[in-house]
Amino acid sequence: MEKVWWKHGVIYQIYPRSFKDSNSDGIGDINGIIQSLDYLQDLGIDGIWLSPIYRSPMYDFGYDVSDYCDIDPVFGTIHDFKRLVKEAEKRNIAIIMDMVFNHTSHLHPWFLESRSSKDNPRRDWYIWHPSKNGKVPNNWMAAFGGRAWEWDDNTKEYYLHLFTKQQPDLNWRNPNVKKAMFDVLKFWLDMGVRGFRFDVINLLVKGRQFRNNPYKLRLTNPRRHDQQLHTFDRNQPETHDILKEMRVLLDSYGDIMSIGEIYLDEGVKDPSIPALFLGNNDELHLSFNFSTIFASFKSNELKNILIEWYSAIGNRGWPCHVLSNHDQSRAITRMAKNNIDKAKLLAVLLLTQRGTPFIYYGEEIGMVDGDIPRKYIQDPVGKKYWPFHKGRDRARTPMQWDATQFAGFSKVRPWLPVHPDYRAVNVGTQEQDENSILTLYRQLIALRKQNPVLYAGDIEFLPAPDDVMCYVRSLGNMQYIVALNFSSRDKQITLQNKYTVLLSTHKKNNMRNGILTLAGYEAVICALQ
Ligand code: NOJ
Repeated sequence: MEKVWWKHGVIYQIYPRSFKDSNSDGIGDINGIIQSLDYLQDLGIDGIWLSPIYRSPMYDFGYDVSDYCDIDPVFGTIHDFKRLVKEAEKRNIAIIMDMVFNHTSHLHPWFLESRSSKDNPRRDWYIWHPSKNGKVPNNWMAAFGGRAWEWDDNTKEYYLHLFTKQQPDLNWRNPNVKKAMFDVLKFWLDMGVRGFRFDVINLLVKGRQFRNNPYKLRLTNPRRHDQQLHTFDRNQPETHDILKEMRVLLDSYGDIMSIGEIYLDEGVKDPSIPALFLGNNDELHLSFNFSTIFASFKSNELKNILIEWYSAIGNRGWPCHVLSNHDQSRAITRMAKNNIDKAKLLAVLLLTQRGTPFIYYGEEIGMVDGDIPRKYIQDPVGKKYWPFHKGRDRARTPMQWDATQFAGFSKVRPWLPVHPDYRAVNVGTQEQDENSILTLYRQLIALRKQNPVLYAGDIEFLPAPDDVMCYVRSLGNMQYIVALNFSSRDKQITLQNKYTVLLSTHKKNNMRNGILTLAGYEAVICALQ
């Protein structure tokens, strides 16, 4: 049986700006999270991954860090954070920090020093390059628009930024950078943090010669960054050496969890790349496979993605699964087209997989994407690419706690508009409703906790009628069958043995003489008798 907390646990991602505002400034904060811990405990989660709360000028809402060892005043203080760790611990909830290793803020003291002169001892902490025949050093593009090189008039060189120009890339070929960042990890580990999510970790080391990236043959995406193959600005072999060293450090602190964001182009479904960063069980503990995030609501497509993911991982490490995060349209909108029955089916899919599931705040109450008018857009990506891409604010709207003004998130107008459906879609209402999606999430998490077969058992996909996904989970003599009907029509499955229905999203028990009838979009979990 798995004793390691993050292997049998469920992790919940909080986007702190949008979770709960305790001091009425319209922005969520640490004390707001502390006030919500009982709710999270009742939900049954084991860990909270916090998107960055370090000091930051907020050009990319915290993914531009100006002090890795302090909390931004908008979120609270280091004392609030210590209290959060303690209060979470009391409820058996681990705190996982978001670690932004690839770049800092342009206002980080390291960068201010680095850009001050060519002979500053920190010059080489970032990636500087002279111009090439009066032009940029190479063709690399920034993910958030424009060239990846910014001219510095003071020292007459370019610096590299793979995201906004306020996010200069660190030079991980310099051992002092690694040492400084490993010290940051120790700082938080000593404070009781139990895990880290590593931002764009596959971008860490850049090709030594800064060669031009080749272009794709078929240019479909108007974002120029996505028109290149990222041969030289990602996935360099040296990144694996750093991850191995980091793994040794993390493991020396006990059962710490590390999960990497493996940054691929929008829409790319390739599980082999995230699997690579698990090494042979000696790099990251977990890595995100965004193939599920880019999938559509189709049983075959999802089944193939899962099969490929499990096989890519093999014995390299432990699987994890995610359908939504702060960068993409929420799964309920993107995949389920805001249909609550489809969203419930996706909840069963997510929480009956082998490995560790990640839930994004609000997913458990069926929060859908916001349709944010242009004048309220905050995200630099939305500002840059409107209307082709309206940015990421849609998935960052305030948590809907109750039916009062501003959804109980804040007493004042929040930094992003609350979704207008909050009067119906909120925690308060759903806690009273035994058919709500929140009740389903609670039941699924509890079932998973009580039954190791669900988190640790083997998984095998069975042949099934069109638009139905069916898999067996087995551990010792325990055997569960999960059946998901992705169509709106009734479907039937003939089972070989005798099973009892443990959970149905439609509260039905249509098992007769070994035949299970699924209603449209119904999801069922059965146990072998
Ligand atoms: C990936 C993060 O998830 C995203 O929100 C951020 O903007 C970029 N990395 C840059 O740090």
